[in-house]
Amino acid sequence: MHSNKNILITGAAGFIGSHVLRLMVLKYPNSNFVNLDLLTYAGNLENIKDVESAANYTFIKGDICDAVLVKSIFEEHQIDGVIHLAAESHVDRSIEDPLAFIQTNVLGTVNLLNAAKQAWQNNYEGKLFYHVSTDEVYGSLGKTGLFTETTSYDPRSPYSSSKASSDHFVRAYGNTYGLPFVISNCSNNYGPNQFPEKLIPLFINNIVEEKALPVYGDGQYTRDWLYVIDHAIAIDAIFHNGSEGETYNIGGLNEWTNIDLIHLLCELMDEKLGREKGSSSRLISYVKDRPGHDKRYAIDASKLCDELKWQPTVDFKEGLSKTIDWYLDNSEWLEHLTSGAYKEYYQKQYG
Ligand code: NAD
Ligand code: DAU
Repeated sequence: MHSNKNILITGAAGFIGSHVLRLMVLKYPNSNFVNLDLLTYAGNLENIKDVESAANYTFIKGDICDAVLVKSIFEEHQIDGVIHLAAESHVDRSIEDPLAFIQTNVLGTVNLLNAAKQAWQNNYEGKLFYHVSTDEVYGSLGKTGLFTETTSYDPRSPYSSSKASSDHFVRAYGNTYGLPFVISNCSNNYGPNQFPEKLIPLFINNIVEEKALPVYGDGQYTRDWLYVIDHAIAIDAIFHNGSEGETYNIGGLNEWTNIDLIHLLCELMDEKLGREKGSSSRLISYVKDRPGHDKRYAIDASKLCDELKWQPTVDFKEGLSKTIDWYLDNSEWLEHLTSGAYKEYYQKQYG
């Protein structure tokens, strides 16, 4: 059992990080949480405004690649635990600009590892570096099989290559310098606060605005979807009770082809918006495929379930319904995002 007191969470203004931060700040009032986030296009303090005045929370706007800043945070806040989520996270963007992914995901992670190593080198007792990663490092599955913790790495996009590289560096620091670490590799998340460049929030937004739903290729690609709060609960369990030096796969046990998911989303949206049945699915438009598109991801999470007694708690239809309700009830959140930079990205990506 780890009981770290001063925890640095990186990227906690983003989608998953915001849920992890909220859970931790409220559940562990005797620990202090420092959120280091650059507030890139994907970072949004509105995601965490309900915890911003908590006594055990500090926000620092800054770059994980900034060695001087990161070193000073470790010293000033006596950091004894790290939960590292900050990353460039969108596959399509990585295809346009791989270097940005190497900069943040690889160099940023190594910079954090260096700072932890330097700050902790005389005493690794009670310290932990938790690196949050993705199932995409394992590559693409055929029709059958699941990714386990021992599946060979086979990253196929610039995003997944950068995440795989960062995973390797974390293990290398454990092996070479004895840095205590744990890694988790999770499947696709969905839920409130996800930036509307990812499939589910993008399509919710487009349905509301009666815009085309751009399905890549034939829509027969498969993803394993997990409600974001179940991911946050798993991260809490692994951070506090996971074994050092181990990797845990996290997944929803919930595979959907994109097109089946989109039809379910369309049905739910028709009901919620009081529109005629079938009106949202008429917006479906097959577009050019994502280059190098991974066919199927699916996770075997039995190690996490058996060792740490974790299970997904939110059924997919219920989670999707809650997610849609959140986006419909928080149109201001979306409006703040969908001005300016987002419009530019959208125009470039979808024409
Ligand atoms: P996100 O894009 O929503 O948020 C990323 C956050 O990191 C943002 O707040 C951003 O401002 C911050 N950030 C980016 N570059 C930074 C830098 N240089 N310095 C400091 N902060 C920076 O991402 P997400 O979807 O919440 O993913 C979080 C982590 O979980 C990532 O490491 C991602 O690889 C991993 N992951 C995501 C999923 C998913 O489905 N979204 C699944 C598995 C793993
Ligand atoms: O598997 C975990 C990964 O899941 C995370 O590591 C990534 O950070 C996260 O972005 C996600 O990656 P995907 O590429 O699977 O997610 P995305 O939402 O971009 O796409 C999901 C599927 O939907 C994928 O097969 C591509 C397809 N798609 C996506 C978009 C944005 C479309 O058909 N049309 C679209 O416009």
